[in-house]
Amino acid sequence: MASFLSLSGTTRETELDQWIRNVRPMMVNHLRANISPQGTLPGTVVASPSRSHPNYYYHWVRDASLVMLAALDQNFVRVNGSQNLTSDELRDYIVLTRRHQNMTNPSGGPGEPKFNVDGSIFDEPWGRPQNDGPALRAMSMIKIANMWLDQGHEDSVRALLWDGSFTSVIKMDLEFVSHHWQDTCFDLWEETKGHHFYTQFVQRRSMIEGAKLARRLNDHTAADWYEKQARGLEQSLERYWDPNRGYIVETLDRDGGSDYKTSNLDTGVILGLLHGSLGDGFMAFSDERVIRTAQALEKSFQEIYTINHQGHWGVAIGRYPEDRYTGVEIVPSADGGNPWFLTTLALAEYYYRLAKEVKDSGKNLVGFSERGRDLVLKLQRHGDEFLNRARFHMGDNRMSEQINRQSGYMQGAHDLTWSYASFLTAIGHR
Ligand code: NOJ
Ligand code: NOJ
Repeated sequence: MASFLSLSGTTRETELDQWIRNVRPMMVNHLRANISPQGTLPGTVVASPSRSHPNYYYHWVRDASLVMLAALDQNFVRVNGSQNLTSDELRDYIVLTRRHQNMTNPSGGPGEPKFNVDGSIFDEPWGRPQNDGPALRAMSMIKIANMWLDQGHEDSVRALLWDGSFTSVIKMDLEFVSHHWQDTCFDLWEETKGHHFYTQFVQRRSMIEGAKLARRLNDHTAADWYEKQARGLEQSLERYWDPNRGYIVETLDRDGGSDYKTSNLDTGVILGLLHGSLGDGFMAFSDERVIRTAQALEKSFQEIYTINHQGHWGVAIGRYPEDRYTGVEIVPSADGGNPWFLTTLALAEYYYRLAKEVKDSGKNLVGFSERGRDLVLKLQRHGDEFLNRARFHMGDNRMSEQINRQSGYMQGAHDLTWSYASFLTAIGHR
């Protein structure tokens, strides 16, 4: 938004710009506080400091990878030098990951979703495996590898991340994804077993980025194999568009877990695009199917959450309409579910990235009467509405997991690390 305004000659900072500038360092600090907190094995990213009701004091592979990805992106996290991750911190994260990868676990492979903070196996019953984990983890490691290669540290990459063998940190996850993306697994919400749009979309990114890194390191056989799997994933991803419902559904071929998500409408689809998009035209943000999915989500949550009926702010967004998770437990009816910060901020980020795509391509969008600059502005403002909605429910510039659908108060795990990561990536794209 800032760059757009300056192009048009108006550089005045809006109230929202100013607020973002003020709170960003605080958000970075809240996120940083959950990386290797005292008493955990270094490299551990706790999902939240909350240790009871709910206990989120674990290293979840999905959350940790997304947090590291957000943190690694200098543009998003650099506020001042001291807030950057140090190379010791990156090393800790890699060493801990190698440990996780090499312990026998109940999933029997890299899809194990979470670990205890002392680095040991969490062996209670859980929705496992969750095969988005290895893809996201590989993406975060590939980002480190590329950064080190750019800085001329191929020796560190070869020593810690990629020695060419199938057991090195990056290849272990990539090999797993490449051989197992056709398996069903639990979804990102840890509830439903099947094939999932979110999971396959991020798996595709891991295969494409993995192939690029393999070529950089002269492993062309691996690169060819990963590229082939990416093409297979693309074919599979086309299956999720449901022309009758008019949106992309999240789960196909369900073979276990919860069965009450009858609409199959899920913000996981938008999150998949945000986390997996490579800007290469495959299922672009401006793809009509994607736009219609974002609109269907907004309409559905607008209707079901009381706090969305007051009309002053943008729409608070949840995971999926039938959600029963209160942040502490599953209740037997669909009014247990609430809007979440990270899903509301995901819609903000989606509209910022859509605006950017429209601006760069000059494309018009089906269903919008505006054209050109007006369209870009409209999309950016819509993104800001979601951002303002999230802002309205923050307390003391902090974010929990959920927002009570009736009272608007924060609910569930406090200081959810992923909420902060989603804030930073959303404003990074603004
Ligand atoms: C905790 C999970 O993280 C959450 O997504 C799920 O809804 C509940 N457990 C119930 O399975
Ligand atoms: C519940 C969410 O459903 C899941 O996606 C997340 O990984 C865990 N909470 C930990 O934050």
